[in-house]
Amino acid sequence: MKEYRTGCISVIQNNGRTEGKGPMFLSEAAVAKVQRIHRGYPDYHETPLRRLDAMAENLGLKAFFVKDESQRFGLNAFKGLGGLYALTMVICRELGLDVEKIRFSDLKWAEYRETVQKMVFVTATDGNHGKGVAWAAGQLGCEAHVYMPIGSSELRAQAIRDINPKAEVIITKTGYDDTVRYAAEVAEKRGWILIQDTSWEGYEDIPAWIVQGYTTMAEEACRQMEEQGLVPTHVFLQAGVGAMAGGVTGYLANRYEDRRPAIGVVEPENMACIYQSALMGDGEAHEAVNQAPTIMAGLNCGEPCKITWPILRDFADWYFKCQDYISAYGMRLLAAPQGADPKVVSGESGAVTTGLVNLVAGKEEYEDIKKLLKLGPDSVVLCISTEGDTDPVHYRKIVYEGKNPMPQQA
Ligand SMILES: Cc1ncc(COP(=O)(O)O)c(C=O)c1O
Repeated sequence: MKEYRTGCISVIQNNGRTEGKGPMFLSEAAVAKVQRIHRGYPDYHETPLRRLDAMAENLGLKAFFVKDESQRFGLNAFKGLGGLYALTMVICRELGLDVEKIRFSDLKWAEYRETVQKMVFVTATDGNHGKGVAWAAGQLGCEAHVYMPIGSSELRAQAIRDINPKAEVIITKTGYDDTVRYAAEVAEKRGWILIQDTSWEGYEDIPAWIVQGYTTMAEEACRQMEEQGLVPTHVFLQAGVGAMAGGVTGYLANRYEDRRPAIGVVEPENMACIYQSALMGDGEAHEAVNQAPTIMAGLNCGEPCKITWPILRDFADWYFKCQDYISAYGMRLLAAPQGADPKVVSGESGAVTTGLVNLVAGKEEYEDIKKLLKLGPDSVVLCISTEGDTDPVHYRKIVYEGKNPMPQQA
């Protein structure tokens, strides 16, 4: 497929976009049971949908919304949605329980305790997913082993230890994709249960539950917008392995069918596996080329999730890759809002979509991409700030000290 490059943004338009309904496992009926589990969790609250009218006006858009996932389950990121649901499903399967009749807290009952507490969970993570798994396991008194790729922040590792005293957290000497393979090997060898947010041949059930888990966030956002009399015309989704972006895209295709919003998938310049897969145009998933570290730790993944790549291939409209400073730009815009807009604390992986839309719609040199995206006075844009300041030291460096500046300011 053809790629366009303007300034620091590369974009591919999807020529093979499919109309109609998304995959069955993300249908509204299929995900209703996910929402039941999440809503049944005692500390469940919908996360706020922030409306930034001054930003929208500045960009010449009808409305600009940011779903603020820093508020999710007290975990500072959306990922607990997947961990909580996947653990519930795994345990229900092991114990022969009907997930339609159970709440997560029922799994603490004395009759299940002995079996549940023997289960040991393991995962690989850049931080947020592992924190979600360790948190859900900790609620049930279970052990969790969490492997993080080389270069991971010690602060993020400690945050996971703090959330579950029975969590062992190790920073490995390899990158994200090899750390995932290592976690899978350890699980196999020790008989632990791998709760991974990406999939490969033969490992599909658990990732599918995780992907379904993310749809609660999409359902909330759509409903919260509709309560204000608006439906999204454009949704921008950041991708690491693409599990979140694929889950939300599939959900939107099912909810809105032929009226679904245009969807842009956004990745870091040097960790763009979804972009690379789209570029190759053979329908297959491909690894990112020229892989290099990014400040967007949650998006630092070189291999697509196999169950969500086909959704992104068929239902997304555009694929983007972005330099790190676009995310830093988004973080600052959300930290220091204009007019009466609310402040959103958004981390490196959370803010990239806001940064991208502000560049494209707000800067003259990106006029051609703005036209390609048909962004204008009727556009209702949704971005998801998938995390807050999960690395608070780095957050301050960017927001207060101007790290990763826009090139003309450097
Ligand atoms: C904050 C944040 N946003 C987005 C993502 C991307 O999710 P996925 O790997 O499913 O594409 C992650 C993944 O860890 C994340 O931590």
